[in-house]
Amino acid sequence: MRAGTSSAVTPGTFLANTKTRELRVGIIGLGYVGLPLTLLFSGEKFRVTGFDVDSHKVETLSAGKSYIYRILPEEIAAAQASGFQATADYRRLSEVDAIIICVPTPLNEHHEPDLSYIENTAHAIAPNLRAGQLVVLESTTYPGTTEEILVPILERENRGGLKAARSHTGGEQTFHVAFSPEREDPGNTAVARHDIPKVIGGLDPLATQYAGALYNSIFKRVVPVSSPAVAEMTKLLENIYRCVNIALVNELKLLCLRMNIDIFEVINAASTKPFGFHAFYPGPGLGGHCIPIDPFYLSWKAKEFDFHTRFIELAGEVNLSMPYHVVASVAAALNARKKPLNGSRVLVLGLAYKKDIDDLRESPSLTIIELLQKEGAEVQYNDPYFSKVGRGRKYDLQMTSTPLEDIEKFDCVLIVTDHSSYDYPDIVRRAKLVVDSRNATAGITAENIVRC
Ligand SMILES: NC(=O)c1ccc[n+]([C@@H]2O[C@H](COP(=O)([O-])OP(=O)(O)OC[C@H]3O[C@@H](n4cnc5c(N)ncnc54)[C@H](O)[C@@H]3O)[C@@H](O)[C@H]2O)c1
Repeated sequence: MRAGTSSAVTPGTFLANTKTRELRVGIIGLGYVGLPLTLLFSGEKFRVTGFDVDSHKVETLSAGKSYIYRILPEEIAAAQASGFQATADYRRLSEVDAIIICVPTPLNEHHEPDLSYIENTAHAIAPNLRAGQLVVLESTTYPGTTEEILVPILERENRGGLKAARSHTGGEQTFHVAFSPEREDPGNTAVARHDIPKVIGGLDPLATQYAGALYNSIFKRVVPVSSPAVAEMTKLLENIYRCVNIALVNELKLLCLRMNIDIFEVINAASTKPFGFHAFYPGPGLGGHCIPIDPFYLSWKAKEFDFHTRFIELAGEVNLSMPYHVVASVAAALNARKKPLNGSRVLVLGLAYKKDIDDLRESPSLTIIELLQKEGAEVQYNDPYFSKVGRGRKYDLQMTSTPLEDIEKFDCVLIVTDHSSYDYPDIVRRAKLVVDSRNATAGITAENIVRC
């Protein structure tokens, strides 16, 4: 049987078509996760159809262009040459054999999981589902989402009375479901994407086998686990581990500042231990789609089990306080120069949540700018990745990037994101005062640097 037709896929053909690249892949959500994944599959000569509700993204990709800084238009064009098409038309899901979901999983205004994107996607997939298809959820979420949210919608709303295959099912028309967490680290050039092992938890052994074969074509190693819930929890453990350890070093940084000890020197020295220590670094606060958000998916779910996740809450409290610490440090540094924060001109360097990327989500810079403005500071920013910043889910700044030529005019230059392209010695030479929340000025000795 040729893949790409609307008839059921049998186990033999799914695996054989994966090998021959006749298997058709559909990726839903062409953002920071879905688009790179699309390119990995296209690079291995799979024909990929990408689905997104954002018409601007669909149009940009269809025109062979990119909207993610580190993805070049040439890569989109190469994917198109391998059959990649972007569309908003969910009916085309019936053309594909594997459906991979990469939609957002944010928190709502009450800091609770917002599963509306996953639910809307499931509602849109269901009428187009056919027997034998594999559906993989990659969006980070609490354990139980795949079985409790995704599967019931797909089973209830598909047109053929199909059921998700489970270990005990037999005889029914089925589709296959798995959860496989995304482990991308934006901006990390040290580890190639295909070297990152891929964890897979299928609802039944065949789902794990299908997903394993599919992901094995683009990743060197797949790690099967016994259920979707184990795979969901694995991702949360990884992110909570980061969140808690970052909170620990943030707290120790505050103590070290009082004790006049350089926390970075301490961490570097501790890192020489060849076992039992992994370095995490303090900063101005958490950012990105993952670390500030994902742990709260678990603490929310834990309440259903009368369980209070104290480490997560404590880490959240420490990390959330860091932007306030940065603003207090700017005020103190200005005060030491007999200047009030109110009315001072502050240049914030870096809007992105971490260096060398074009992602603003949950960036501490945004909070810091708002806090500085509330205190009456005249704030401008510079970021080579954002010529302007408008309105987001939680901010409305309407600012444009200030050229670095004007650096002398500011009362304080605040380093929030340590982009590699900045010339830090030059910045220190020209600025009246530099407050450094990232240790970007390490190795530079000057009276006008305040590290915080
Ligand atoms: N960005 C990362 O580094 C990263 C790393 C690991 C895991 N994750 C997880 O991966 C998931 C996706 O994150 P992201 O960073 O790619 O988000 P993103 O916002 O960059 O992309 C999501 C895309 O989904 C689209 N979308 C939303 N609803 C849709 C629908 N109903 N149908 C089709 N498309 C829809 C959006 O338009 C957007 O293009 C999240 O759960 C996130 O936690 C992200």
